[in-house]
Amino acid sequence: MKVIAVAGAKGGVGKTSIAVNLACLAADEGFATLLWDLDPQGSASHCCRVEPHIRGGAGAMFGGKHDLDRYAQPTEIEDLDLVAADPTLAEVEPILSQRRWPARAVRKMLHPLKEEYDLVVLDCPPGLGLLAEAAFTAADLVVAPIVPSPLALRSLEQTSRFIGERGIDTELMAVLSMVDRRKVLHRQMLPLAETDDRFAGAAVPFSSAVERMGLEQVPSVLASPRSLGSATLKQLWREVRERVDLGD
Ligand SMILES: Nc1ncnc2c1ncn2[C@@H]1O[C@H](COP(=O)(O)OP(=O)(O)OP(=O)(O)O)[C@@H](O)[C@H]1O
Ligand SMILES: [Mg+2]
Repeated sequence: MKVIAVAGAKGGVGKTSIAVNLACLAADEGFATLLWDLDPQGSASHCCRVEPHIRGGAGAMFGGKHDLDRYAQPTEIEDLDLVAADPTLAEVEPILSQRRWPARAVRKMLHPLKEEYDLVVLDCPPGLGLLAEAAFTAADLVVAPIVPSPLALRSLEQTSRFIGERGIDTELMAVLSMVDRRKVLHRQMLPLAETDDRFAGAAVPFSSAVERMGLEQVPSVLASPRSLGSATLKQLWREVRERVDLGD
């Protein structure tokens, strides 16, 4: 079982859009995939048409009373299961801080599922706190979407430092996200995808097909498979699959 965390300090940069589509593409290739919505906003749950509800709330889920398996449910997409989020996840940091080893919580919760799933995709809320630390500790790869701007590069450096300072053994892959070629700054930063090793080669464009996912509640790679957004997400998936060495 491989684990990918889609995460970063900044909000609204395309984390959920990328997480849902990567999970969907993995499932589409026949990998038994679990998408874990860790954001109290429940956007990934919404996009997969799963009710944003955690039985007993985040306290029960992270309190260690039940296996995570109890919370995983099938989606309408074959081979894709989802652990839904709900607003009680807003309290996850204080809940985690009560655990003996908060940083190991997500890894520990996923451990019993390691034979059941080939891939787990963690859709993290924005921010770098205990939950991010626990998600990164569980992950083989952290995918960090970056909307082109000088400040976004600072936030990438913060994420990189966060991982380094905690001695977390995971790789970080930045991805240019919501790239609008009409904007000078976006065009100026596009070469990063080709020249900077920290970045994936795929740069996800600003795409109405991706944007519509919140409305249609169907992953954009399924709803608009021929759009440029979907083509780029597929390229990103190939890079991620190779990076985590998922095999065939
Ligand atoms: N490539 C894209 N093209 C156009 N719109 C996009 C794209 N990616 C995301 N969006 C839109 O931008 C908004 C934020 O995207 P998304 O929810 O994926 O970001 P996020 O980083 O997960 O946000 P949050 O930090 O709140 O969890 C949504 O309305 C989404 O539809
Ligand atoms: Mg999100």
